[in-house]
Amino acid sequence: MSDSTSVPKAPNVAQSNGIPPPSFELPVPDTPDLVTENVFKLNTLITNPRQRLLMDKLVEHLHVFAKETKLTIAEWRAAIEFLTRTGQTCTPLRQEFILLSDIFGFSSLVEGLSNPSDGKGTDHTVLGPFFTEDAAEVSLGESIASEGKGEFLFVEGRVLNTDGAPVPGAVIETWEADENGFYDTQYADREKPDCRGRLRTDTQGRYSFRAVVPVPYPIPGDGPVGELLTMLNRHNMRPAHLHFMVTAPGLKTLVTALYPEGDTYLTNDAVFAVKRSLVVNFEQVTDATEAQRRGIPRDKPFKLLQFDFVLRKDSEGSSGSEGHKVEADHTKRDPTPALGPTPAVAPAVPRDAKL
Ligand SMILES: [Fe+2]
Repeated sequence: MSDSTSVPKAPNVAQSNGIPPPSFELPVPDTPDLVTENVFKLNTLITNPRQRLLMDKLVEHLHVFAKETKLTIAEWRAAIEFLTRTGQTCTPLRQEFILLSDIFGFSSLVEGLSNPSDGKGTDHTVLGPFFTEDAAEVSLGESIASEGKGEFLFVEGRVLNTDGAPVPGAVIETWEADENGFYDTQYADREKPDCRGRLRTDTQGRYSFRAVVPVPYPIPGDGPVGELLTMLNRHNMRPAHLHFMVTAPGLKTLVTALYPEGDTYLTNDAVFAVKRSLVVNFEQVTDATEAQRRGIPRDKPFKLLQFDFVLRKDSEGSSGSEGHKVEADHTKRDPTPALGPTPAVAPAVPRDAKL
């Protein structure tokens, strides 16, 4: 018996999406400027104002890019092939496109526009490509890392709101690379999450956990993004850091990371994600009593990180795309925008900063 009934048949006639041609006239686009103009005219069919703005600006900047650079067909093809390979490198545990966004500073830029520093809440930074949903629940004071993953680190503090009130029951997701500079997802034989955990603050908003001292690490260099960095003559190192995502009802989700001071790569992070307020002191503790109090195995010396996270209320400021809507009348526009210098974006940390 044939199993052809279980395989959907391809239509034997090419299928239209059913949308009729526009009611307005479009000139035959036999010059580059007319191509640009026609795309903008077709964008007037977009009914959602936010989508319309995003598409108008995307088309504007893409077309200006091609015209300014006099982009060749060979360069266009190379870019398409590069993006294709970037997509093909993605797996459920590897996100090469986020990495690509990161190394252009684009992730950091979007994050900074969505969550500008306000001097009240803890600064945000990029999520990065290594967050996973499967972190194990870890009791307060317990370890997120299995033994042998690095030098002992103890992390403790509180979660507060911007009034200084403790936030009980806040969920803290934390993840880090091990002493080899790898996240658990980078090991082919990964059986379960490691160097990552999910904690909940106690009734007084306190949290604590054991981890390992993070080390600087290279972002993955074995894919298209790694090849691109090499071509651009750029190193692929990130300063040591611990990632955090903190959530609590009625408060804005905080996505951030903490960076030990003194790291070589603080001012030249491959993904532009360091903020001065997130550079912290890791205290060296050699007192065996302190080690015992925190359950450090064999009362070994350890590093201590103490940090309070401050979450903004939902009503404070704005976040996401709502936070940086462009106010512009994009219903009337010059179809061939004037070329001009791109506005400079100030780096998060000055080049000469000493951290
Ligand atoms: Fe990271």
